[in-house]
Amino acid sequence: MSLMIRTTNLVFYNSCLTSTTAKYVSQLAGIQPRGLLHTSSSLMNEEKEHRQSLEIKQLKDYMMHHEIYSEKELQNVTTTHKKLKSWHDRVAYAAVRTLRLVFDTFTGYLHGPTMAKLGYQNPSMTEEQWLRRFIFLETVAGVPGMVGGMTRHMKSLRTMRRDYGWIHTLLSEAENERMHLLTFLELRQPGWIFRSFVLLGQGVFFNAFFLSYLLSPKTCHRFVGFLEEEAVVTYTRCLKDLDAGKLPAWTNLPAPTIARNYWKLSDKAMLRDVLLAIRADEATHRQVNHKLADVGPNAPNPFLVEENQIPPPPSLDEQRTIDTANKN
Ligand SMILES: [Fe+2]
Ligand SMILES: [Fe+2]
Repeated sequence: MSLMIRTTNLVFYNSCLTSTTAKYVSQLAGIQPRGLLHTSSSLMNEEKEHRQSLEIKQLKDYMMHHEIYSEKELQNVTTTHKKLKSWHDRVAYAAVRTLRLVFDTFTGYLHGPTMAKLGYQNPSMTEEQWLRRFIFLETVAGVPGMVGGMTRHMKSLRTMRRDYGWIHTLLSEAENERMHLLTFLELRQPGWIFRSFVLLGQGVFFNAFFLSYLLSPKTCHRFVGFLEEEAVVTYTRCLKDLDAGKLPAWTNLPAPTIARNYWKLSDKAMLRDVLLAIRADEATHRQVNHKLADVGPNAPNPFLVEENQIPPPPSLDEQRTIDTANKN
């Protein structure tokens, strides 16, 4: 029944579009409009149904491709750490630890082993402290994808050679991070001092990352992989605090509208659902960047999929492949 409704909607939707518009919309969504009409109902299971419903929803979505998660996919996210093997890994990890120290100091972060060593037992952060951290983190997190995509675009122009699919993945990552930022800005509008630090941070980080990307894209993707490991840890800790009742102002806070629209959440979605979706996005970035570092900048994008498919987020098994340090 549900397939019938979806298929009917799709036919109706197709019939409302001119062929040019349909082509344009399908390019934006990254799928072929008629792709679903050939799906056999006997092959459908719960996950397949979920992914197919996304294809229809994304027809009307002007954003670049991003994941929309099932409940199972949201719960599947786990913290991982990739073992350091090469000099690329060591340089990248040292840079992430340094950046983290700066972040922790600037945003008054009160979690993790360092705080325990300083004698803070079960320290907790307020909602405002978490927001300050998230907003600053996301203003930085949106930089690498844009720099990577831009640099590869320029290289393709300059060398007159194909890019083999990286640019789109990197730019969609940058947009996804910007949506994280815009979501948190619905909850807090930073003052001019904070904005000055963001301006300064962007000036330094953009240029440093751009130069580094010219020198060693592999190290840069490994750096982002490690940075995303930290992001998953941070959002996991925040969710734990929320579930433990340490963030009462957020317990019954509805999801901001921008987030409900972006991740296709229900009308009853709460901020917790948004945090779960953002954490799952960070786990996707972690998987993508570690893999891009593994294959190297001259290989085709390993995440290219069939034209009418939406790539699923990393499964538990896939996440285990980048958890080579076995810290969990
Ligand atoms: Fe993010
Ligand atoms: Fe991220």
